[in-house]
Parts: sequence; C-alpha cells; structure tokens
Amino acid sequence: MKSPIPDYLDEMLENERPDEAGELAGYIQELASADPDQLGAALATLDGEIYCAGDTDIEFSIQSISKPFAYALALADRGVDQVLDKVDVEPSGEAFNEISLDKDGRPLNPMINAGAITTHSLIGLPGCTAEDRVERMVEGLSAFAGRRLAVDEGVYRSELDDAHRNLAIAHMLRSYDVLTEDPRAVVDGYTRQCSLMVTVHDLAMMAATLANQGVNPVTGERAVPVAVIRQVLSVMSTCGMYDAAGDWTTQVGIPAKSGVSGGVIGALPGQMGIATFSPRLDNHGNSVRGVALFERFSSDMGLHLMEVPAAARSVLREHAPSGTETVRIFDLQGSIRFAGAERVVREIVRTDIAEDRVALDLTAVHSLDDVARRMLLEVARRLSIEGKEVFLVDPDTVIPDPDPGTDGSLAVVSRRDELH
Ligand code: DON
Repeated sequence: MKSPIPDYLDEMLENERPDEAGELAGYIQELASADPDQLGAALATLDGEIYCAGDTDIEFSIQSISKPFAYALALADRGVDQVLDKVDVEPSGEAFNEISLDKDGRPLNPMINAGAITTHSLIGLPGCTAEDRVERMVEGLSAFAGRRLAVDEGVYRSELDDAHRNLAIAHMLRSYDVLTEDPRAVVDGYTRQCSLMVTVHDLAMMAATLANQGVNPVTGERAVPVAVIRQVLSVMSTCGMYDAAGDWTTQVGIPAKSGVSGGVIGALPGQMGIATFSPRLDNHGNSVRGVALFERFSSDMGLHLMEVPAAARSVLREHAPSGTETVRIFDLQGSIRFAGAERVVREIVRTDIAEDRVALDLTAVHSLDDVARRMLLEVARRLSIEGKEVFLVDPDTVIPDPDPGTDGSLAVVSRRDELH
C-alpha cells in the first residue's frame, strides 16, 4: 500500500500551482532569472523519514534561510551572552534590509540583515580568519543538512556585485563597533553564506535537525548543542517572517524562516521539519505559495504550536484499591510534563492509601521531562517518609537514576508481577 502522505503533498501543490501572484527577487541577477513556476515541498520526520513532492531536487540558494543556522553556530561558538551582547532578540516589524539599531546600538534581531551580518562575524573562534569562518559556516550548515553543501560562485558574485545596501549596513555596524573588523570581509562571508545551494529536501532536513534538538535525524550527527535550540526556535517564531511575523504566528504558528530565493522552512519542535520552495515573493519578501502551503499544512495537520491537546488528563490511567493485593498501583502513561505530573501528585496526595506498599507503574510512559521526574520522585520520597514501601515499575528506565533520598525504601522493578 502507498502512504497517503506523498499524495496529500501532491494535492496541496496542485491546489497552489495556479497562483501566480508575487514577483521574483529582482535585486540579485541570478534570482531574477529563476523559473518562477518551480514548486516543491518536503516533510522530514525526526526518525529520518522524508516525504517529498514537486521540484524536490532543484538546487537554489539558501539566502536568508541560512540566518537561523548561522545564529545557532554563533551561539554554539561564542555562547548566548556574547551573542546577545551584540545582537538583540526583539521583533523589528521592519523589512529584512532595514538600516536600523536598537536603543543600545545593537541590531534588533539576528533574522534581519543588520543582525545576520553581525551574527556571521560571530561564527568560529574569536580571532579566526574570514576564510576559517566561512569554512566553519559551510561545515556547520552542512551538518544540519546531513550532506556537504557548496557555495554557488555565480549567485555569490551576482549578489556581491550589487551589495551596496548590505555594505552600508556593515559600515554602519562598524561605526558603532558592533562589527570590530573589516566590514567588507564580513559582507563577503555573509554573501557566501546566502549563496549556499540547497534543495527543498535539504531544507526539510535542516529544519528537522532544529526540531530534533540539534541532531540530524538521518546521520545522527549533533550539529549544535541542545542548549542553543530553544534560543534559535524562539527567535524564528518572533522574527523569522520579518514584518509578517504576527500574521504568520496567528495563521501558521510554527517557528519559521523564509528566503528571497523562494524557500520557507518550519521547525516543529519534537515533531518534524517542513520546507517549501516557490520563487515568487510577496511584498514582505516571503514566498507567496510557500506561505499558502504552510497555512494549509498547519490547519490540515493541526501543527499550530498554540493548539496543543490537553496532556494532563490522560497521564493517570487507573489506580484502584487493590482488594486482596497488598500493593496500591498508580498506572501512568504517555509523555509526562509538569501538568501531567501535577495530576498524578494530586491524586496520590488526595487518596487514602490503606496498603503498605505503593507502586508507580511507568511501563506505558514514553518520556518524562526533568520537572516531572523530580515531582514523582519527591512524592515517592514523601510516601516513604509516611512509612510506605515504594516501587517504581520502570522497564524502559524512563527514570534513569532514581535517588529520592528514601533511605533505600524505593525499589525499582522491571515487571509488574515482581510486585507480588
Ligand atoms: O542579504 C540579502 O539581501 C540576501 N542575500 C538575503 C535576503 C533574504 O533572503 C531575505 N529573505 N526573505
């Protein structure tokens, strides 16, 4: 049987194909001569599956979609504080190439050009050469994609020949000491960054790597430390679509980034990476058909981040007085975070437990975050202080290192029948 997902993607592309609204990016010669009818989409899951439709093998320059990945590399190489010192994280509501700084003399965010040019200068170790920085940038973005990406010299040259606006921004940044080196070398490296060639398949994989806490789902390679990802996704969700960020957040609700060559990516944390490619742009510089496709994907597949089903109610399956048994078992399930753990804790606290032995059965739990783990262990500790003998049934070790300070009265077993 054929999976319905590629058929769904094909159908979505055919729905959008007739829409010829928008213009090609005219300010870069190589982009102005692109085929405006190209159209592709890809979804990449976090366990390495990828679904593609349309023009998925056509290479185009990554342009501004490089910005969140370059930001991730700068954060990884210099740390959050040093990067924040130079580039703020406030939505600007401005066009991508606005010549602007905030009241502290920093670019408003890393997604507009002023912030992205500064961010490029922060990739690599302090004091590295412009060439080393470009190599680190190429190698870093390639780790996100899972294959070696390359700069297209034609795109790079045609943008650099006409980079007056970005040079103006860089000289302005240099005059405020935001940039501390030759502005021309930084614009050169930034332009190479924008000229890396990708397919819609690559972009979906890069987005999936962001969604997968920085690990490429196919190669298993960690592109950046996990601590960087929250910062990047947050900035994408507030600033990724420039002066259309508010509309995007309400209509689509997925951290995203667009580029003037017609790509759009969305990274849905813990779920998947999505990419579309269609070169005609709206007046914000975002792909017209890309935005429409993302709106459809979000509503059809329930992807809006603000539409999350209630997780708390379902984590406690049952707990009945044990009758002839001598152990009270609380049966937990699913993925447990604060709200779910609170439900479990509340139920345990409110229950008059007659049995001397209490078990938390985690057999059907597939993940617990740190706060949920600490809450369950704390309730176990308190039960043991009240004189109960406490057990965790944890066959898959979802709590790897239980140490609730229960003076040895917390036992871990791997099967429920070991309780009897
Ligand atoms: O800096 C520039 O002008 C381009 N190389 C990148 C701009 C871009 O992709 C803006 N995105 N919509």
